[in-house]
Amino acid sequence: MWGVIYKTGLGFILSCLLAFSAYAQASNTRLEFKGLDVNAEHIAVFVGKDGELSKAVADINAKTDGRLQTALKDAEFEGKFGKKLRLYGLSPFKSVIVVGSGEDELSVRQLRDLGGYVAQASSNDDSLAIIGAGLNTSVAQSAAELAMGYALGSYSFDKYKAKGSGDSKKKARTVSFHTEEPQLSKDLFVNDLKHVVTGVGFARDMGTEPGKSIYPENYAQRVRKLFKGVANVKVEVMDLAQMKRKNMGALMGVGQGSIHDPRLVTVTYMGGASNEAPIALVGKGITFDSGGISLKPNTGQWAMKSDLSGAAAVAGTIYAVAKRGDKVNLVGVMAMAENMPSGKAIRPGDVLTTMSGKTIEVMSTDAEGRLVLSDAMTYVQEEYDPRLLIDIATLTGSAARAMGEDYAAVITPDWDLTQEMMRIGKAVGEDVWPLPLNKNHYKAIASDIADIKSTAGRPGASIGAAVIGTFVDEDRKWVHLDIAGVDWLDKATPTTPKGHAGWGVRFLDAVVRENQQAE
Ligand code: BES
Ligand code: ZN
Ligand code: ZN
Repeated sequence: MWGVIYKTGLGFILSCLLAFSAYAQASNTRLEFKGLDVNAEHIAVFVGKDGELSKAVADINAKTDGRLQTALKDAEFEGKFGKKLRLYGLSPFKSVIVVGSGEDELSVRQLRDLGGYVAQASSNDDSLAIIGAGLNTSVAQSAAELAMGYALGSYSFDKYKAKGSGDSKKKARTVSFHTEEPQLSKDLFVNDLKHVVTGVGFARDMGTEPGKSIYPENYAQRVRKLFKGVANVKVEVMDLAQMKRKNMGALMGVGQGSIHDPRLVTVTYMGGASNEAPIALVGKGITFDSGGISLKPNTGQWAMKSDLSGAAAVAGTIYAVAKRGDKVNLVGVMAMAENMPSGKAIRPGDVLTTMSGKTIEVMSTDAEGRLVLSDAMTYVQEEYDPRLLIDIATLTGSAARAMGEDYAAVITPDWDLTQEMMRIGKAVGEDVWPLPLNKNHYKAIASDIADIKSTAGRPGASIGAAVIGTFVDEDRKWVHLDIAGVDWLDKATPTTPKGHAGWGVRFLDAVVRENQQAE
């Protein structure tokens, strides 16, 4: 038997086990991969175009003496992709969840979505069996992708609910994925996809935690804890005194209004050749963005507890890559600060000197992300000379308005890279779409008294990118991701419940996978 039961924080292993648990989640769900022998109270099946049953589902139908098919006919179930139906009274099963799998050949993204649909339709059941055999797909190990979607879609955050309610009252349960090739799917899940799920769970946890509970010092500790015992990973935490020595005036400036000092966290994973330049990921980690002296309006202020999403995605990604043991060198830099108003806070009009020596005139203290990133970008290039540099940030309301919840904005001067990013995003289910960056955006941030100014009206997302781009070496392969619209969902998608999305772990993980150098 395979399976793992995870309890919050201290997963204990039962045998040759596999399971997932989103990080702070008190879920006692055990995932298993099995052959076609099904024995469960609740069952989930996929039905394609015109309600046609695959051999595996026909076997289930036979167990119900044909009543499953009759019920599908009566419900006029056409098998449209993502359509869900839950049927009761089809003994020997207590319930049968039916999800339409459509007529097209299923991609990885669609398989994950199908797993997510089942998760949404099945909360709290015990011993759920999901029939992954007979799907119309050429994706080998498709059951592993279903499991990943299921695991992502069943995330919940119940830490602050009273004991005995929410997830904490859920009993231990098993979800089994039935497939022709259980061992292969299990291997892919356990050695790879499960770590991506944990990385996403970490990012979601961080983005959901209130600002009171996560501030730079303990955010850094949470990152340390995540990587404890992970091979080839080093976590370095830079404090205020060290930042002073590096002249990180922008990062320190943003943090100075808060009772909590800023931190700069660097995670390195050296899985590649020692002479190979790394890929660098740089994340915005504002643990709460009040706007500072340029205080934000009341409405929606609470959501700025998740202004640390970029940094969380960086940590989650490196976790997945390192646990998988990729042959790649990867460095992540997380710029952590709390943006608060106080007598010690920076003011609009102040001029900050960055680590690069360039000065920035602060036009609005609410445009703090680009400030902390300016120092982080300089630092990572000076220290690591990366071959690909990606920054990820909940940077602008402008990007959120333009993109909504479906696309993150991608900005890079390199059109080939833009297209690569769009292709990767589409494949893994985290879409990106380009916004422009040209010399006019750089001209717009000219300042009368400093080297640049931090804002310059519309178009906000491109202006923000220009400020960051000012700190990127010429000819450096650079991608900027503005995730302000996608990091928080008001409406669930199959693999992302509403709330904090943990956006970027799946995307960046795929970028790193695809950018490994041949041996
Ligand atoms: N963290 C915000 C951006 C944001 C807005 C993220 C909405 C998620 C949802 C950022 O620090 C900010 O306040 N940006 C300002 C910049 C402006 C002052 C130039 C904005 O976009 O309004
Ligand atoms: Zn702000
Ligand atoms: Zn912000």
